[in-house]
Amino acid sequence: MRPVEIKKDIYWVGCVDWNGIDFHGYSIARHGTTYNAYLVKDEKITLFDTVKPEFRDEFLATLAQVVNIEDIDYIVANHLEPDHGGLLADLVELAKPEKIFCSPMGKRAIEAHFHPEGWPIEAMKTGSSISLGQRTVQFVETRMLHWPDSMLSYIPEDKLLITNDAFGQNIASSERYADQLDRGFLKRRMMEYYANIVVPYSPVVEKTLDGVHELDLDVDMVAPDHGAIFRGKEDVEFAMQTYREFAEQKPTNRAVIVYDTMWHSTEKMAKAIADGLMDEGVGVRLMHLKSYHHSEVMTEVFKSGAVLMGSPTHNNGILPLVADMLTYMKGLRPQNKVGAAFGSFGWSGECVKTITEWLESMNFEVVDPVKTKHVPAKESLEECLELGRAVGKALKAKMAD
Ligand code: FEO
Repeated sequence: MRPVEIKKDIYWVGCVDWNGIDFHGYSIARHGTTYNAYLVKDEKITLFDTVKPEFRDEFLATLAQVVNIEDIDYIVANHLEPDHGGLLADLVELAKPEKIFCSPMGKRAIEAHFHPEGWPIEAMKTGSSISLGQRTVQFVETRMLHWPDSMLSYIPEDKLLITNDAFGQNIASSERYADQLDRGFLKRRMMEYYANIVVPYSPVVEKTLDGVHELDLDVDMVAPDHGAIFRGKEDVEFAMQTYREFAEQKPTNRAVIVYDTMWHSTEKMAKAIADGLMDEGVGVRLMHLKSYHHSEVMTEVFKSGAVLMGSPTHNNGILPLVADMLTYMKGLRPQNKVGAAFGSFGWSGECVKTITEWLESMNFEVVDPVKTKHVPAKESLEECLELGRAVGKALKAKMAD
């Protein structure tokens, strides 16, 4: 790839993963991603982050277009997950940097990942800064956004905030800037990233946004490590406001009905529940788990105020795709949801109890479930309609809180 000068003497030197499909269980298929790294040419030539190891040759070739790699003086490791820190050892060997800057937790991460000997690591706490010559870099730790080592780097002279995973989006494109992309597409990709990576750390997001506000950082460019860069005050404000909205997780007038089905009985129930929700004016989406990847479903869970989960009873439990979805969703800890279980059964009927317990363990406000023996008759479908209406009413009450 060609480097892109994003500010005078500051270059994007990342890689585009056009065909990426998976990110530890989060499907990025069809959209790909980028691994962004940034190079500042000042008296101290400084590289911010590296890229995923598979892109080593491409990354070094991009970097070599703007700098002799052995001339790099400093490396800043904002985050050590291998999609950003994976080539740190290679760069240390090639550049022999004078210093490697990271957060205090980043130092521990470097030690655990690379077992380095004699690396010139300097741990930087929030509020500490370094001089590059004409510029300074101020560091802000953002522990658990989304790893303990995560931090932001701020260059006041350029009003540039390098944010690592925060504000990222999985988008592989030739465009480097958010203002070159369709805004709805961009926000959807931001939401998908947030729902599948960031949502458990929403309190840290709010604290970080408050911190940026309190420190009165003058920012006119937000440069994340995935996807498009936000340039100009308007787009920076868009990025910050979007994250504020995501972090608040206010309930919305939408429901997602997520299910698997053996012989279509649970599916019939799902459709009747959808009618009940629509009777209450709630926007509904049905997602059969054999048709959608769990990360697509998770994005819909994130944007919905109500989540209904259905499975038939299978071997005294629930179907494996439903168990997979519940496990994934519980780990991501979405907040402020109304939930309910439903499902068909043949003889033992544990399905709704199992799902209800999962929903309760996620602090969902749970509405009484509905189960039906074998194939739902008219009366069962009426119960499903009532369940949809009850969830719709509970959702409205939650939204009014
Ligand atoms: Fe993009 Fe936490 O890695």
